[in-house]
Amino acid sequence: MAAFRIAVIGGDGIGPEVIDRAIQVADAARRHDNAVLDWNPLPWSSIHYQKTGQMMPPDGWDILRRHDAILLGAIGHPDVPDHITLHGLLLPMRRKFDQYVNLRPAYLYDGVQSPLRDKAPGSIDMMVYRENTEGEYAPIGGRLYQGTPHEIAIQTNTFTRRGCERIMRAAFEGARKRRKKVTSITKSNAQTFGMVLWDEVFKDVCRDYPDVESGSLLVDAAAMDFVRKPEVFDVVVASNLFGDILTDLSAIVTGSMGLAASANINPERTFPSMFEPVHGSAPDIAGKGISNPLAAILSAGLLLDHLGLDKSANALRQAVAKVLKDGAVRTPDLGGKSSTTEVADAVLAALPRA
Ligand code: NAD
Ligand code: IPM
Ligand code: MN
Repeated sequence: MAAFRIAVIGGDGIGPEVIDRAIQVADAARRHDNAVLDWNPLPWSSIHYQKTGQMMPPDGWDILRRHDAILLGAIGHPDVPDHITLHGLLLPMRRKFDQYVNLRPAYLYDGVQSPLRDKAPGSIDMMVYRENTEGEYAPIGGRLYQGTPHEIAIQTNTFTRRGCERIMRAAFEGARKRRKKVTSITKSNAQTFGMVLWDEVFKDVCRDYPDVESGSLLVDAAAMDFVRKPEVFDVVVASNLFGDILTDLSAIVTGSMGLAASANINPERTFPSMFEPVHGSAPDIAGKGISNPLAAILSAGLLLDHLGLDKSANALRQAVAKVLKDGAVRTPDLGGKSSTTEVADAVLAALPRA
């Protein structure tokens, strides 16, 4: 029987409550592959930072490396500056573990109302490949003359040929398993160094995939088309910041942030990959018991995929789709009155028998 060790970082706000539910569902689903999942909860969060002055212990990375995968809730607390908490755990993790593929599916489920008019179930079905280790998120820069009128802040975008090429190749490989269409998101009309390199590499990579339809779109026009005609997108490949922004948009046009799952993948498997909902710690609803656990549950589904537990992952997705289609049990973000627990229980009840 295959056994896997999974590090769990619930984090802040609604993070722990949705992650607990995701574990419950994954634990029931994994029976379909007869696998054992050994969950290792780690108390690393902004509260931990307030108590210890650190987001994680000094040997935190070594601890994480000893796992097959990481399941994460959300990091961010109103009382601690985001640039401290996010730069103490989440963002360095994506770089240290070379999780360069940030996979973010957006699918309009049957039974879910898009805020866009007349969208049929399944008509929006895209997969965003977000570059996750460089670009606009490279922590390169500095500040000078702080607090004075001539204060300077420099934040350097970093684009490498290798970094662009590997995310683009991943996107094309992914497209071959879908509708064979890749859209690259750019801003080379204004950002004439990094984004021009991005476009050049895209053109080069395209040549190796003549069977896949490809095109480029400026990010501002892409933002419009995510709303105007989201059904035209299949695979989308974007830089770190553009991918971040566009995936909140793809989440909401498919119904809610509470449904958006993501995987931070190290394809070479040198390091553990990390799975987390796209949403944050949602301080506005934290502790109220009304957060939608489905984004976390679907993220656990991506984790099961990554571990090769295909039957379990499919069973989990089937159960989520059934609950959404039935429509009786849903949290307020989807227009319902149910609690986090009631939704997770409905998914558990909808799981096909192993
Ligand atoms: P957010 O995603 O936490 O919340 C945005 C809105 O969506 C809120 O109205 C919230 O109530 C709603 N929402 C989000 N998830 C939901 C769910 N599962 N069910 C129902 N409603 C949900 O974004 P924010 O408010 O901009 O950020 C809050 C904090 O989270 C900040 O500190 C931010 O930096 C952090 N953050 C962390 C991550 C992460 O850890 N991966 C991601 C995004 C934001
Ligand atoms: C996300 C989040 C993070 C990001 C923040 C919390 C740093 O918004 O995962 O989408 O920008 O990558
Ligand atoms: Mn984001």
